[in-house]
Amino acid sequence: MNFTVSLSPSGRQFVAASDKPILQSAEAAGLILPYGCRNGACGACKSRLLAGEVEHGPSPEATLPASERTMGQILLCCAQPRSDLSIEAREAEALRDMPIKTLPCRVERLERCASDVMMVALKLPANERLQFRAGQYIQFLLKDGKKRDFSIANAPHDDSSITLHIRLVPDGHFTRHVFEGMKVKEIMRLRGPLGTFYLREDTNRPILLLAGGTGFAPIKALIEDAFHRGITRPMTFYWGARDQAGLYMDELARSWTETHAGFRYIPVLSDVSPDAGWSGRTGLVHRAVLEDIDDLSGYEVYACGAPAMIDAARQDFAERGLPADAFFADSFTYAAEAGA
Ligand code: FES
Repeated sequence: MNFTVSLSPSGRQFVAASDKPILQSAEAAGLILPYGCRNGACGACKSRLLAGEVEHGPSPEATLPASERTMGQILLCCAQPRSDLSIEAREAEALRDMPIKTLPCRVERLERCASDVMMVALKLPANERLQFRAGQYIQFLLKDGKKRDFSIANAPHDDSSITLHIRLVPDGHFTRHVFEGMKVKEIMRLRGPLGTFYLREDTNRPILLLAGGTGFAPIKALIEDAFHRGITRPMTFYWGARDQAGLYMDELARSWTETHAGFRYIPVLSDVSPDAGWSGRTGLVHRAVLEDIDDLSGYEVYACGAPAMIDAARQDFAERGLPADAFFADSFTYAAEAGA
């Protein structure tokens, strides 16, 4: 059975089948709505149902608690329509002409940035290009049929190779292979670009960027892209890690403060020992933002890290006045890798 879905504020409509997630029907109609993981884990597709009824399907309680369901929140990647719907969701217009491709690639370089972080540079075939927006991710299509998602760490103007920052996941077969078995020239298959995490440009709001650990990868791409394109909105980057080693490109981030007047960098460590000689900020990275800024109503936030960090930031920033549509997140979903 088919229903009509109307989007607010654009007023666009599409037909959605009752046996498919709303996100999938939107894509079939050529509309790109916000998404990340596509499996209920990240919350990037969370939207408000203004009218109509849905079946929440496999929406996990952790991502969409009962309290949010009663407030009309839905996950577009899980919910199926049960009537005509009106949904508040902004389309990712900037991705409209960006084809998602499946391509072979070759490992060009492997560089250990920290004991548990590997920079992997991938080369595409000479006649291929991957068009993408800074902040998007690619998916490795593994031989056993599994898929692994990683954010692209380079900006689109610097696309001689695709670079990823891969963190070693305890018991993760793929990431262990990256650290122990992967060789230069190894052939992989990737699909991308994916996700709707990219810099919105319909506002002049100052930008707060928040990264936990290797959440730095897409944030690095956003920052380098913004610099390259001469975006002059003030940017403050908070990078959280357990210890100094976790700030694996600290020097690069510090160098940006010297070359770009409107850019600030605030590293925050959560588990630093007293004899480490650290005189900087400590605690949870999103709390550092709250310590610095009382009223977030005029900002736009881009956050990438573990789900707990993203959820806490989303909630606490909203309490400080950040509008829901000014918070963009790319949430890690390590869990899928563990034990795989
Ligand atoms: S895309 Fe729907 S929860 Fe991640």
